[in-house]
Amino acid sequence: MDTHIKLYKHQQPFLSVYSPFFILLFTLLCISCQPNQQDAILIGFSQCVDDDDWRQTMYFEMQKELAFYPEARLIYKNADASNAQQIEDIKSLRDEGVDILIVSPNEAQPITPIVEEVYASGIPVIVVDRKIASDKYTAYVGGDNYEIGNIAGAYAASLLPEGGKILEISGLPGSTPAQERHRGFTDALSRFNTLSLLDSINGQWEEHIARQETRRQLSRVKEADLIFAFNDMMARATHEVLDSAKVHSKPILFGIDGLFGPSLGIDMVSQGILDATFLYPTGGDKAIELAVNILKGKPFDKENILQTTVIDQSNVKIIKSQAEKIYDQQQDIVNQQRAIEEQLAVYQNQRTLLYVLISSLAAAIILGAFALYALREKLETNRELKSKNEEILKQQQQIMQLAQESEEANQAKFRFFTDISHEFRTPITLILTSIEDILESGSSHKQALQRDILLIKRNAARLLRLVSQLLDFRRIEHGKMEVKASPGDLIPFIREIFSAFEATASKRKIDYQLLCLESELPMWFDDSMLDKVFFNLLSNAFKFTPNGGKITLMVEKDKSTQKARVLIKDNGQGMSKNQMAHAFERFYQGEQNSSMGTGLGLSLSHELIHLHHGSIKVDSEPAKGTSFEVKLPLGDTHFKESERCHSSRNEHSTVLKTIYEDEDAFEEEESVSVGSPSGFSILVIEDNTDLRKFLLTKLQQHYQVWGTEDGDSGLVLAQKEVPDLIISDIMMPGTSGLQLARQLKSDLRTSHIPIILLTARDTTEQQVEGLQTGADAYIVKPFHTRYLLARVQQLLQSRNALQAHYKSGATESAPFPPPVDGISTIDQEFLDAFRSEVLQKLGDSELHVNDIAKAVGLSRVQLYRKVKALLEVSVNDYIRQLRLEKARALLCQQELSIAEVAYAVGFSSPAYFSTVFKNEYQQSPSEFVRDTTSAS
Ligand code: FRU
Repeated sequence: MDTHIKLYKHQQPFLSVYSPFFILLFTLLCISCQPNQQDAILIGFSQCVDDDDWRQTMYFEMQKELAFYPEARLIYKNADASNAQQIEDIKSLRDEGVDILIVSPNEAQPITPIVEEVYASGIPVIVVDRKIASDKYTAYVGGDNYEIGNIAGAYAASLLPEGGKILEISGLPGSTPAQERHRGFTDALSRFNTLSLLDSINGQWEEHIARQETRRQLSRVKEADLIFAFNDMMARATHEVLDSAKVHSKPILFGIDGLFGPSLGIDMVSQGILDATFLYPTGGDKAIELAVNILKGKPFDKENILQTTVIDQSNVKIIKSQAEKIYDQQQDIVNQQRAIEEQLAVYQNQRTLLYVLISSLAAAIILGAFALYALREKLETNRELKSKNEEILKQQQQIMQLAQESEEANQAKFRFFTDISHEFRTPITLILTSIEDILESGSSHKQALQRDILLIKRNAARLLRLVSQLLDFRRIEHGKMEVKASPGDLIPFIREIFSAFEATASKRKIDYQLLCLESELPMWFDDSMLDKVFFNLLSNAFKFTPNGGKITLMVEKDKSTQKARVLIKDNGQGMSKNQMAHAFERFYQGEQNSSMGTGLGLSLSHELIHLHHGSIKVDSEPAKGTSFEVKLPLGDTHFKESERCHSSRNEHSTVLKTIYEDEDAFEEEESVSVGSPSGFSILVIEDNTDLRKFLLTKLQQHYQVWGTEDGDSGLVLAQKEVPDLIISDIMMPGTSGLQLARQLKSDLRTSHIPIILLTARDTTEQQVEGLQTGADAYIVKPFHTRYLLARVQQLLQSRNALQAHYKSGATESAPFPPPVDGISTIDQEFLDAFRSEVLQKLGDSELHVNDIAKAVGLSRVQLYRKVKALLEVSVNDYIRQLRLEKARALLCQQELSIAEVAYAVGFSSPAYFSTVFKNEYQQSPSEFVRDTTSAS
């Protein structure tokens, strides 16, 4: 589960996992690249009107000053000479959050309340040029308008020493410059009685209004000796009106502002249009400087009065040239500012680029670090996955191995039960056939009856032993087999078991010895268990030791380990290494288990010895013998209380002993009946002595018989004797029945021999497998003797039918009729080869059977038997028959004499030829020639 979660986590795209991080990083970088907005100074400027040069100059000066304060920013609003608009502008600047307000009011009264409000809200207010009707502002910047008016008045008086009439062209009456200039002017005039103020025309500061008003009041204007216009624009308008009215004696004309530039104040003075103008600085630069100082908390003056001066013919040249210089300097400054701004822009761009580059680099480094981290994580995950995979693979292999082991165990179990059933079927067959015998013959033959009953008894006992072994296993498997040990002496116990086999040993001439190295061996043991073990080990030894062999039973006390040691040693056929390794496995049936029976006895002994807290070991070598070593602990401490039995020891059962004595009792000589009524011979291959002998007894009444106990000797016997039929068991020591059948059927010498397989293997597949080997019949145990005999007879008869088929129609041109069912390819090929061999050598009177046998790859006997089996004639008879048939054909052609024909078909004398011919065809060759001629 953990792995899955981890996997999922690692499978997310890297950027999606870390995207919040990157967004944050990028934002931080962007913020760091931006100018610091929090430190910026926001200046609001409300201008009353801006369509004239003076106001433009003010704005220009402000911009010029702002260049020195990059942290300051100006928000500019123009009210277009409207009080209402200006009030709105101021509100809007306040709402935009300006840090300071600069205001140049249109008219004082209407604008005062809003300025006071802003001021009261804590925003500093700088009033420029025109004032408000209150002192609730932070600072004022502007010229002294009263003083200007006063100077103008005094200067007018100096120009009109004789006195004269003066006309005023005023600005907006509500604006303070208009009021103060008027006051200053009239105060000065009042000092001179000769001067009188003719009128005051309201030009509202605007050139076009002044033009309109002077034109309207031209007669009044014409009356004036001096006209004082409150700014240069209105003075210019007045001059133009007078000019266009062609007034010859023009009045003296004053203006205010004194701006530098074409048609502006200074220029008009130098051209003589104006007699004088009074410098009125705009204070734009000063207002900005003051604003910054106020916001930065630097000391400042509330009232900042700008200096004024008179510009007239006396100083206009100097002032103009100074103004030009100043203008040039200002232009330079502007150009430099532009250049600086451009540089600044380039710098800003480069800085931005640098930031972008640094950010990219930082991002690349971080990405790289994360990529490395991710790679490491991935490698780690991969490593984990790999080890998990390996683990899974290992588990898979283990499961597969377990499955294989379980499959093998199942197979072994299956084989085991098959074999057990085989073990059951043979005694059952013997019991059934014996009963059948008794029923058939009644009690007429006393000896035969006794033999049958003994056979039944013996095989019933064998069945009982098998069943008791199986039950013991069941008990062991279910933990029901319990040791019941009691104190006793092992020596007499062993001696008794030993003696049970003595009779058999002497009958089979086996050198059978008991070696007791102790006179007594007191110990605790379960006699019924050990009885089974030692009986089993001894029967095994007897089973696999040939007659005349040697079996030793030895008992001793191993003093070092305090154990009783029992050794059962034989010089029988022994076991292979593989058999030895699996000797005690219950279901192991490898290599046909020739030396291990069903494996039940040894496995049971092994289990019993272990229940008894002892050990058992096997040592064996093929063809040399086997020894079993049993070790049992002395004393009683190894037995649990429940395993001890304090009651007196029973005389141990002699059932097994009885069984063994009986089991090998059938010791009649395996006879080979010579000459039998049918003339056929049969070979019986069966490892169960009883069954083999029983079959031989039954068969020898009709056939010549041979018997043998295993496949290998069966094979040798079959090749040597070439019997007419073979009956073989399938499960046998050494070569199995199936292997035997396969080998016999592929061997030219024996391929024609019908084979009957006897077995306990009764499934259809098993029977098909049996027949596929080439076997002719398959008889399942238990079977009825009559059925077997009938099957034998039937197979021999069908062989006869084949013989008849082949013998008839055997002519030279078509030596054999086409093949029929029932003859194998190998036999068909043999017959073809044999026939052509004989025909080839027909003319050779010295032709010997040995030559033909050699040519077809068989011995003389084998050839005789094979030809006899297949064609039911002897080889010599067959050759003679072919010779005669060929002779008849030659005689018919009448090209050769009878003597020549006789030699041509291999007869050594014409006389002998005639005798043989007459015997065969009941007429002499000459009679045959005569009949043939007359017929044609
Ligand atoms: C410009 C102007 C100037 C004058 C000043 C008075 O608008 O009329 O010519 O000096 O305003 O406020």
